[in-house]
Amino acid sequence: MKLLPQAQQGLRGTLKVPGDKSISHRGLILGAISTGITHLHNFLLSQDCLSTLKALQALGIPISINEQTVTIHGRGLQGLQSPHQNLNMGNSGTTTRLLTGLLSGQHLTATLIGDSSLSQRPMQRVQQPLQKMGAQIQLTSGHLPLIIVGQPLKSLSYQMPIASAQVKSALILAALQADTPSTIIEHLPTRDHTERLLRQFGGVITTSPNHYTITVNPQPKLLGQDLTIPGDISSAAFFITAATIIPHSRIKLIDVGLNSTRTGILKVLKKMGGKVHISTRSQNKAENYGTLEIQSASLKPIKLTAADIPSVIDELPLIALLAATAEGTSEISGAAELRVKETDRIATIVCELRKFGIKIIEKTDGFIIYGQPNWTINNPHLDSHGDHRISMMLAIAALKANQPLTLKNSGAVNISYPKFFQDLHSLIIEE
Ligand code: S3P
Repeated sequence: MKLLPQAQQGLRGTLKVPGDKSISHRGLILGAISTGITHLHNFLLSQDCLSTLKALQALGIPISINEQTVTIHGRGLQGLQSPHQNLNMGNSGTTTRLLTGLLSGQHLTATLIGDSSLSQRPMQRVQQPLQKMGAQIQLTSGHLPLIIVGQPLKSLSYQMPIASAQVKSALILAALQADTPSTIIEHLPTRDHTERLLRQFGGVITTSPNHYTITVNPQPKLLGQDLTIPGDISSAAFFITAATIIPHSRIKLIDVGLNSTRTGILKVLKKMGGKVHISTRSQNKAENYGTLEIQSASLKPIKLTAADIPSVIDELPLIALLAATAEGTSEISGAAELRVKETDRIATIVCELRKFGIKIIEKTDGFIIYGQPNWTINNPHLDSHGDHRISMMLAIAALKANQPLTLKNSGAVNISYPKFFQDLHSLIIEE
């Protein structure tokens, strides 16, 4: 049980948030199947990314860590070996789904296992399209444990039934090993880090001008790269939210990734009346990043529907919190994917925000929130339910409380942001 800090005097200061989780996973995987050495600077050393790193080591890839730089000795597109033990995916959906796509076409056999949360998450969404390519994947009632027997793969033309960057990336990684080019069609564009990084490593992958159709050329010669991973906007979003809802705040966040498939939170905040300013913009070979300045603001309610969801999928717990402080009724719909995240996030958001005295109605695909700037706490004992993003969202909500609150399972932050509480404390103005 952790006693959470409050921040009546506001937040001040400058912070560099840790490296992007999605890009850290992808950098490891692409480094492993390239020829030569890859250096990933500002790598996110969190439990999820370490699940990918350890799995690749177990598949025969030499990888070393020196502070926040990871060095990978790539073994080429077909260089992975059968592991001696089960591959433990921990809590990480990204590790599981991306590696399932990659391993489907390798000369090996592997069994993927995970923790109790991951073992309840749906895996047929990758199994079904990969089977069309000739993959041999066995699930246990649609879930982990998952057994892969690598096969020669055929190309695929696939219309994605759900908006998922994990599924899209699994298919791209399988398509690299196929016989002829593959096409993946999204109905809503999702994060495109795999596509961007793959181009940097020398892959040939094209995206149609409307961003819906992706064509992957097989059997590329990928070459090791030296890349610096921008800060994770999904981690920055906790402090963006905190500075917005806590009066007298003004903070600066540097080197935050600004890929347009990820910046939905900034658009939502702008619509709600938030004060976020991008003060510098930069670009490396694959990604845009910049410095954000955030000040407190009083917010208007918001309405989000299915088309808005992919670019804010991981920020929806925070959007619920922002809506809870806005005067009026906000409605989030088309977000049923939240039900199959690390927890059923619709249920956990509703359960925990009610403890702050907020009226919130649960829908099958979202929620309706009756926001108010001042809250009356009716239960001071919060619970992350073991979900990293719920843990951090509740710590931000607690800053606003006028009484001390406790958080059960606060250690879930280690999944994506081990230094979260340290960084939060560094911004709080002490009385
Ligand atoms: C991720 C994609 C999203 C996101 C997850 C990371 C990725 O999941 O929620 O945190 O790195 O590809 P889905 O693909 O399941 O939407």
